[in-house]
Amino acid sequence: MKTLMKLGLGLALSAAVFASPLQAQEYPAKEITVVVPFSAGGPTDTVARLVAQIMSEDLGKQVLVQNVGGAGGTLGAGQVAKASNDGYTLLLHHIGMATAPSLYKNLTFDSLEDFAPIGQITKVPMTIVARKDFEPADAAALWEHIKAEGENVTYAQAGIGSASHLCGTLLMNALGVKMTEVPYQGAGPAMTDIIGGQIDMICDQTTNTTNQIKAGEVKAYAVTTPERLEALPDLPTTKEAGLENVNVTVWHGLYAPAGTDPAIVARLQESLKKALQNETVVQRFADLGTAPVPQEDVSPESLQALVQEQIGVWKPILEPLAK
Ligand code: MLT
Repeated sequence: MKTLMKLGLGLALSAAVFASPLQAQEYPAKEITVVVPFSAGGPTDTVARLVAQIMSEDLGKQVLVQNVGGAGGTLGAGQVAKASNDGYTLLLHHIGMATAPSLYKNLTFDSLEDFAPIGQITKVPMTIVARKDFEPADAAALWEHIKAEGENVTYAQAGIGSASHLCGTLLMNALGVKMTEVPYQGAGPAMTDIIGGQIDMICDQTTNTTNQIKAGEVKAYAVTTPERLEALPDLPTTKEAGLENVNVTVWHGLYAPAGTDPAIVARLQESLKKALQNETVVQRFADLGTAPVPQEDVSPESLQALVQEQIGVWKPILEPLAK
């Protein structure tokens, strides 16, 4: 509640102190950069490029995606937290905004204070997949294999605090063993090595696995949502496959730096809402096992409340791993 009141107060204050309404009216006067804190070609990049395309058409200026990978997404997020709050540098990030506060003792930003949230975007299920020639035939056999082999199994993740790191942590906690984690700047390059057979497995977002699963390029074992997915109906849920507490869905949001003019935030919110109603975006999301959030969740208040709630959800699980 305190943070939401602060959000309201912050919005009012910046309206008072921000530069001329004229600038807000003329916004955007030039191209906008959206920082994606992971490598190109990965799940977050896929979501960003789809939305950015439609927002460019609506705003009449290019919305360009800039990939700043590293440190589980905290490098790119930290960069935007310190960027000018003129509306021309934005951040598209995910559940990492809620995991980082519990994992990094010297985080360079405050997920709740240093950003002006614009709105939620989508909630992406995760799938547990492996290289296509991996021995275990199904999920039950995979759990037994991991328990028996432990650190002989290589597990790709996109850095501490990333979605693949979080899901891997839940899986290892549920099985009571450690695998050998291999960090990447994003799930994009990790998937290349899984398909190439260099790495055994990853838990990754359906926006990065659905096509690979359907093409038989990777072996799929389970999905981390309470219900099966329409896009992958044969894939059991982790619960159906006998595992409790490996439930995670990767929510994504759009942010500007704190203090950005509320009129500009409102213009971006309006444009994001349009993008998430766009037929091509809706269809592409569906093909990749996800969907836009309801329009009422494409709002600063809804995103801020989600970040706050999720920080609380993951803290007890992740704090023991803090560095
Ligand atoms: C990515 O886009 O690479 C992912 O979101 C990485 C992750 O969080 O696992």
